[in-house]
Amino acid sequence: MPNFRIAPSLLSADFSRLGEEMQSVIAAGADLIHFDVMDNHYVPNISFGPLVCEAIRPHTRVPIDVHLMVTPVDRIIPDFVRAGADIITFHPEAADHVDRSLGLIRDSGCKAGLVFNPATPLHHLNYVMDKIDVILLMSVNPGFGGQSFIPATLEKARAARARIDEYTARTGREIWLEIDGGVKVDNIRAIAAAGVDTFVAGSAIFGQPDYAAIIDAMREELKK
Ligand code: DX5
Ligand code: ZN
Repeated sequence: MPNFRIAPSLLSADFSRLGEEMQSVIAAGADLIHFDVMDNHYVPNISFGPLVCEAIRPHTRVPIDVHLMVTPVDRIIPDFVRAGADIITFHPEAADHVDRSLGLIRDSGCKAGLVFNPATPLHHLNYVMDKIDVILLMSVNPGFGGQSFIPATLEKARAARARIDEYTARTGREIWLEIDGGVKVDNIRAIAAAGVDTFVAGSAIFGQPDYAAIIDAMREELKK
């Protein structure tokens, strides 16, 4: 069975109690903390930045998965490295020099990844697979939590999985396949069947009174 990871998105947490919310979701079994950074420029919303990442970082050992929805990309990468990010992903459309930005993240010791909007083709992976640790597929248009899963993402997940398997067979190096947007208990199994191993979930978890019950229910679905 693949090694599945659940990554609650803090975007749907109660911001007035952010540290507490993060600790609750970790106690409930989160494998990663997904940290959505929005700038009202690349996406039509503003969330939080490196200062907030730095403030929560000392309160957990769980990896922080920083999803940059900002442009420009390179200016802010070193700030997130200093703030204690473990993984940094960005959208190829938001970066002027994709290879350089991936290198900047990797050289700083973080894992790097590219994020694909629903209509963005996977060809941005060509020529940069050696610099990628995570492929993040958006299953909603980025900018807001609580949207519905776009079903065409499943076909894209299968295509990304095929690329990863071919790459891993050739090089022995692992690449995670992560999905972001509209993930719920009732669709996580179908998403896993399409080859996804890492699941971001915001409103599905933080919208509920018992975080552990939701994460456990997701893991039960993944066992089926
Ligand atoms: C959307 C963000 C997502 C979002 C997911 O731009 O990247 O991480 O928080 O939220 P849900 O799980 O509610 O779709
Ligand atoms: Zn995200």
